[in-house]
Amino acid sequence: MARRTATAPRPDASAPPAGPAGAPADAASRIAAWQRRAGRHGLPWQRTRDPYRIWLSEIMLQQTQAATVVPYYERFLALFPTVVDLADAPQDAVLRAWAGLGYYARARNLHRCAQVLRDEHGGRFPATAAELARLPGIGPSTAAAVAAFAYGERAPILDGNVRRVLARYFAVEGDPAAARTVRRLWEHARALIDAAPAGLDMAAYTQGQMDLGATICTRTRPDCARCPLAPDCQARIRNRQDELPTPRARRAQPLRHCWMLIAECDGRVLLERRPDTGIWGGLWTLPQFEDAAALEAACAGLAAAGTPLALAAIDHVFTHFRLRIQPCWLRLPGAAPTAAGEGRAWAPIGNLDAHGMPAPVARLLAGLYADTPLPR
Ligand code: ADE
Repeated sequence: MARRTATAPRPDASAPPAGPAGAPADAASRIAAWQRRAGRHGLPWQRTRDPYRIWLSEIMLQQTQAATVVPYYERFLALFPTVVDLADAPQDAVLRAWAGLGYYARARNLHRCAQVLRDEHGGRFPATAAELARLPGIGPSTAAAVAAFAYGERAPILDGNVRRVLARYFAVEGDPAAARTVRRLWEHARALIDAAPAGLDMAAYTQGQMDLGATICTRTRPDCARCPLAPDCQARIRNRQDELPTPRARRAQPLRHCWMLIAECDGRVLLERRPDTGIWGGLWTLPQFEDAAALEAACAGLAAAGTPLALAAIDHVFTHFRLRIQPCWLRLPGAAPTAAGEGRAWAPIGNLDAHGMPAPVARLLAGLYADTPLPR
């Protein structure tokens, strides 16, 4: 694509929306300069050019806010200081370190990716976005972010926040998740870099787009007065910030139900390890049932004389549905159980943290046992 030297379009309400080839030559530099002056600084993954640390942060930051990620990130690196340490760790240890961050497929892919890097790349990260994008769990935007931060590659990113920034700046209409819209946004993202001068600070530019999306060009009430793109932002000029990106048609989220059994015996709770695939794959949870009858049958199987006590239900929101969990608590008499079978464990209540558990289950047990005198 030809490099343009033209100045940015004037803030003229009659200007046509810029097409993919029409990226102003200084837009990317404005974002980079704004980031250095007013963007987010001091986040732990900004202090390194080590691709392992940058990759880890980018995976953790998918769907999770920076403030939540920081303590997980630091703990994770203390446990697994290098990609080979991560590759060599048992999956259980990786899931335990991830527990609470959600979207556990990310952790399983992270582990698998580390093993591919150890086994097929000599424990080193490839040095281009194109090669990084071939690894498990690394999409094109994450690959570009790692390549830009670690190696300064002029690779465009397009995460959820950046889609919003570009949809407004270039007035891109259409469902922001539709393939056609996404393709067009990628073209704009590429064009911004192609139009920029050779010396563009890719780390500041890449971070700047993320920071703009997170702090200025927010979904509601964007702070256009502080935005470096405001002078030629097509949405601002047309006063269409509320209409762009085109709001997605909201589908009602289905509500699913399940029953969970808290079987307690002699200071221990029965846990089950979920299959590796699917929701909460590989994590430890309470035995889960589709209906109350199945739960009661399981109680009978545990030779329980009493009936389980229904606790307050908990709602947990996933991306595509809500799950209403009905916990039922059953205290079994007798001595500490021993072997529980494959994929099952009687975990001591004082040591439940040793098992990687989904956040709602961990919260449920923490709440239940926080001030209960334990029969140990
Ligand atoms: N979200 C995704 N990548 C990020 C980064 N590097 N800093 C802050 N938030 C992010």
